Amino acid sequence: MIEQQIKDAIRDIHDFPKPGIIFKDITPILKDPELCHNITEAFMEQVKEMKIDAIAGVESRGFLFGLTLATRLGIPFIPVRKAGKLPYTVNQKIYELEYGTATIEIHTDAFNPGDRILIHDDLLATGGTVTATSELIKDMGGEVAGFSFVVGLSFLNGREKIEPINDNIIILADY
Ligand code: PRP
Ligand code: MG
Repeated sequence: MIEQQIKDAIRDIHDFPKPGIIFKDITPILKDPELCHNITEAFMEQVKEMKIDAIAGVESRGFLFGLTLATRLGIPFIPVRKAGKLPYTVNQKIYELEYGTATIEIHTDAFNPGDRILIHDDLLATGGTVTATSELIKDMGGEVAGFSFVVGLSFLNGREKIEPINDNIIILADY
């Protein structure tokens, strides 16, 4: 039901951002408030049994439903940002990409040691981004409570990569 609604809304963009890639464009979802509501409620249904103290959303598309979900749950939202964007003191993690490296940062006071944190992003591809986020959260004394994604690309095996971290993995629409 929700899976089909999401798939009906997502638009495939061929050769973006580079030749050979088929990009899953979620912006049509954002134009549809009823679908955004249904997505939020589908996440709420699946997280209600989980004990979560905060939601960490990964820049930039992880901010969209991440903050909505945190607000609905009445818990803090933690922005996980690309290097140099956060104004206060930060902890950072450098991680490998297909070519080169990337850096993510979290404010040093974003959560309390021992907090159980759900990591949210719009899309699970290789799992590299959320694995780095998990490592940073654990370095800072947090616990990873699970993961949530609007979309998963199962042919890239991200689930297999992140399952050993925590197998509470919510994916609303899997390809
Ligand atoms: C995309 C997507 C996820 C990540 C998934 O973000 O929104 O954050 O890649 O890839 P992975 O599982 O292989 O790590 P992108 O870096 O394109 O940035 P954006 O969200 O700011 O558009
Ligand atoms: Mg992203």
